[in-house]
Amino acid sequence: MSRVYIEDLHLHVGQPVTLRGWLYNKRSSGKIRFLVMRDGTGLVQGVMAKGTAPEEAFNDFDALTQESSFEMTGVVRQEKRAPGGYEMDVAGLKILMVAHEYPITPKEHGIDFLMDRRHLWLRSSRQHAILRVRHQVIRSIREFFDSRGFLLLDAPIFTPAACEGTSTLFETKYFDLGSAYLTQSGQLYGEAGAMAFGKVYVFGPTFRAEKSKTRRHLTEFWMVEPEVAFNDLNDNMDLAEEMLEHVVQSALKYRMPELETLGRNTAMLANVKRPLPRITYDEAVEILHKNGIAFEWGNDLGGTDETVVSQQFDRPVMVHRYPAQVKAFYMKRDPQNAKLALAVDVLAPEGYGEIIGGSQREDDLDALLGRIKEHNLPQEAFEWYLDLRRYGSVPHAGFGLGIERTVSWICGLDHLRETIPFPRMIYRLTP
Ligand code: 4AD
Ligand code: MG
Repeated sequence: MSRVYIEDLHLHVGQPVTLRGWLYNKRSSGKIRFLVMRDGTGLVQGVMAKGTAPEEAFNDFDALTQESSFEMTGVVRQEKRAPGGYEMDVAGLKILMVAHEYPITPKEHGIDFLMDRRHLWLRSSRQHAILRVRHQVIRSIREFFDSRGFLLLDAPIFTPAACEGTSTLFETKYFDLGSAYLTQSGQLYGEAGAMAFGKVYVFGPTFRAEKSKTRRHLTEFWMVEPEVAFNDLNDNMDLAEEMLEHVVQSALKYRMPELETLGRNTAMLANVKRPLPRITYDEAVEILHKNGIAFEWGNDLGGTDETVVSQQFDRPVMVHRYPAQVKAFYMKRDPQNAKLALAVDVLAPEGYGEIIGGSQREDDLDALLGRIKEHNLPQEAFEWYLDLRRYGSVPHAGFGLGIERTVSWICGLDHLRETIPFPRMIYRLTP
């Protein structure tokens, strides 16, 4: 008999199959025993009636504890009321291992208790749903860029210098070469890639020594970063909105059951279609003032500010042309107003805030040298990056989308920690 997974049971109705998995749940009702198996692809209910089911199976039923591993054989039938929609009359049971008393029970547990047992918590239906949405998000991003001729460029994790400011750098000793820093962003390497291949995307883990304990910060998170030669800020916004539409619509198309498990109201997600509204930072400040917020021009938007701005729109909003003083050294200045950077942040609705940060890049050698000095960055470490401005420099632009913030928003979660299998935060390094 070939191996059968629960998600494929619809292909085996009326046939005998053997399934392998773990005990999710069991209960008795008079002479009938019900057990629910999970195998990672779904749930199925096994049914045994005293007198018809084999005697040994009945004994095994009593021995099975939550999360015990076992095999179950029987004929499959559709049963809309059963968990998973399918059921089998158990013709045979084989216990593989009787699990120790499982620490995670249907009662409410505190978040620290669950996070300490993250390696087990992943088995629950809620975590299952979230991580399947995450997988779909990653898959649709790759699909988006791969089908548009982008080259996947893998950037290094150990880097010689900061990309996104020196305050969130993780430093580590690197043999005789002094210090290395865990990458905050693959962008600078993406720029080299764009000059070599025209359009590329970097997709990997990034690190920020965030001292903040907010619901929107991890110390290790995944980012996808497209970079395109000859793109300006507007092209960059076009690309961002097209990608976002694809990612959200794919999640709705392929992960609706998971979003239902999470109780997500998907009305706002369905709105994520081009064109997305585009406003300037100045217009965002006006919105804040109209809403009675004492915001000073020149500051970065905080979490609450972002929420107020995004509440004016029924889909994500792009805010562009921020004051250069709050943005990174590599951003090009607006030729119309040198105080502004050709930057764009995309703010998700429903209070989720910034999910994308990007910009057109400074492509002029002298201007870039000046920025590196202003930001007190070590020029030697950036010589290779400056070379990109020495040898055929062209306008170019890109952005970074944070995977966890995007998944958190799509799933409607109140914290980033459940969107990655093993979260790293200022106060958490295990499991
Ligand atoms: O705005 P950021 O810092 O931009 C960059 O790193 C650019 N180099 C990207 C580029 O232009 N290629 O980060 C981009 C996104 C944010 O919008 C957010 O979604 C996510 O990365 N992000 C974080 N996610 C989780 N935890 C953190 N500590 C994050 N910091 C940024
Ligand atoms: Mg940002």
